[in-house]
Amino acid sequence: MRGLAVPAGYRVVALDCVDSTNDELKRRTGAGAAAGTVVWARTQTKGRGRGQRQWQSPVGNLYVSILLRPDCPAAHGAQATFVAALATADAVAASLPAGSAITCKWPNDVLVHGRKVAGILLESGLAPSGRLDWLIVGIGINVAWHPADGEQLLYPATSLRAQGALDVNAEAVLSALIVAFERWRAIWVEDGFAAVRAAWRARAHGLGRPIAVGLDGERVEGVFADLDAGGALLVATADGHMRTILAGDVFPAGG
Ligand code: BTN
Repeated sequence: MRGLAVPAGYRVVALDCVDSTNDELKRRTGAGAAAGTVVWARTQTKGRGRGQRQWQSPVGNLYVSILLRPDCPAAHGAQATFVAALATADAVAASLPAGSAITCKWPNDVLVHGRKVAGILLESGLAPSGRLDWLIVGIGINVAWHPADGEQLLYPATSLRAQGALDVNAEAVLSALIVAFERWRAIWVEDGFAAVRAAWRARAHGLGRPIAVGLDGERVEGVFADLDAGGALLVATADGHMRTILAGDVFPAGG
């Protein structure tokens, strides 16, 4: 990692192999790690996705977790997902040919030409006051490899390499990602979530189009009407209602 340029306030811990960069950073957080600590690993043995799903982690892709200690109510923590998605979309865009269609899929994925190239796993801990004590933003970007369509995937996948970024490597993507992350984090802090929401909406995948969302034991179908002021998904259903969805899995329309 010689020469990895990161903005002031960030410190990268580079490891060959960990169970999960989120878990490693959680341990370091418990031991007093400072905001801006970044754990980057070449491979993970227990990479995790949302809903306790496995995140396959071969060498060649990017696995990174960033520690934030925002002084904000617990309910605002999820806004960091959108900050991370915008930063990831920028880092992805920086390595792909001009004109690549890069979109953000609610709540935590980045797509290229409709296929998932990156996912975000946010975890948090509370202070005794009930406010956030720490927030770990875990980001996985498929740089060189992606799961094949035949595998049990919620969404079809791709990689930067498959999309034409032939020379890119995980370290270069990490460098671009941290710079972009700090830019969007500063916008979040200085201009508020409204600015982040507006930028995310401009990159939103499928806004105004049919959507299917899997909730606990339920499937909601309708039109992706909007993102509400707090980051929840608004789905207009055929019976004329507007559903506000705080957590769920979005499937390809018709899938
Ligand atoms: C998802 O799409 O479900 C989220 C995937 C998040 C994967 C990243 S890889 C780095 C960090 N460490 C983990 O164990 N998971 C996240």
